[in-house]
Amino acid sequence: MKLLSILFTLATIGSALAQAIQLPVLPDGAYIISIGEDGKPTWTNITAKVAEPPAMVKREPASIVIEARPDWPSGTYARCPSGNWFLSTDLYTQSEGTWETFFEQCESSGSYQFPAGTALTNYQGTSVSYMCAYSANSCSISEWHDAVGWVQGSCGGRSNGWQEPAYLHIPAWNKRYGYAKSGSSIC
Ligand SMILES: *[C@@H]1O[C@H](CO)[C@@H](O)[C@H](O)[C@H]1NC(C)=O
Repeated sequence: MKLLSILFTLATIGSALAQAIQLPVLPDGAYIISIGEDGKPTWTNITAKVAEPPAMVKREPASIVIEARPDWPSGTYARCPSGNWFLSTDLYTQSEGTWETFFEQCESSGSYQFPAGTALTNYQGTSVSYMCAYSANSCSISEWHDAVGWVQGSCGGRSNGWQEPAYLHIPAWNKRYGYAKSGSSIC
């Protein structure tokens, strides 16, 4: 799997996520973002690796059924951070929104442990779907699927096509899943 080989070269980066990551505004794609030594965000573009042929079959979010729900540890909670709404269609436009593209890149990363202090992100238009790894952590499609379901129930803000950001924080696992607007702060 080509994605894994590039991911292993990342093992050396990533200081602890002591501070939030101010998302750079980036073109649509898949990125691993961390804070550089100068305190500024730095990224690795893994878009081409995720899109490596054979192209994955596109699926509609509604058609994806995850059988096993994650056994969330106690202390897990949803938050609806204020400000910086994004266009709902960039999260959910059929198979092109970040809900789906993040799912695909999560799936293609397999059991890879993203280094502590990194955020796995997917950008489409105004929307960024992400996972924060406060310690080395893998991305799980069943966790992503369930986390979004949970936060959608808690953070229902919608207006004129715009949607409020939300995340699920899992302190016991040192990770967080969420979606936010490009350019805002996450993790
Ligand atoms: C990342 O790669 C994709 C696909 O190759 C490209 O479209 C995009 O512009 C790249 N992003 C940056 C910031 O260079």
